[in-house]
Amino acid sequence: MTDIWVLHGPNLNMLGRREPEVYGTTTLDEIDAMLVHRGQAMGVQITCRQSNHEGVLIDWLQEAFNSGIGGLVINPGGLTHTSVALRDALAALPCPKIEVHLSNVWAREEFRHHSFVSPVVTGVIGGLGVESYLLGLQAVVKLVRK
Ligand code: DQA
Repeated sequence: MTDIWVLHGPNLNMLGRREPEVYGTTTLDEIDAMLVHRGQAMGVQITCRQSNHEGVLIDWLQEAFNSGIGGLVINPGGLTHTSVALRDALAALPCPKIEVHLSNVWAREEFRHHSFVSPVVTGVIGGLGVESYLLGLQAVVKLVRK
């Protein structure tokens, strides 16, 4: 079965309690459960992981590279706007990759308008809350099957 990984970056473990007016009230566990459920319906294996640490996320991207996953959905959180190292790890990963954001980063503070990650992913989905993740999953599965 195709392996799809979903990686969540810093502070996303706080979803549901963190700035709910920006990020909504759904918790990360609830998002992961929805993704696993959708994955089952689409016949793919979903692995969800969250870390607050840049190096851990990079280790996981290298693990994904070594194990040859089918596709990736990633919300890098604040690292989107700061991390060359995360971008480099993503660039090395040959599978389809979708960057997702709950909020519309382009409608927020200027420092959120730039993403180090966007140039090395297949596509970007943002501003749709939990739906960003669900559409990201749908997109990546389609790309894997193309
Ligand atoms: C985010 C947007 C980022 O700018 C922010 O730092 C986050 C979450 C989003 O999902 O909207 O942590 O990636």
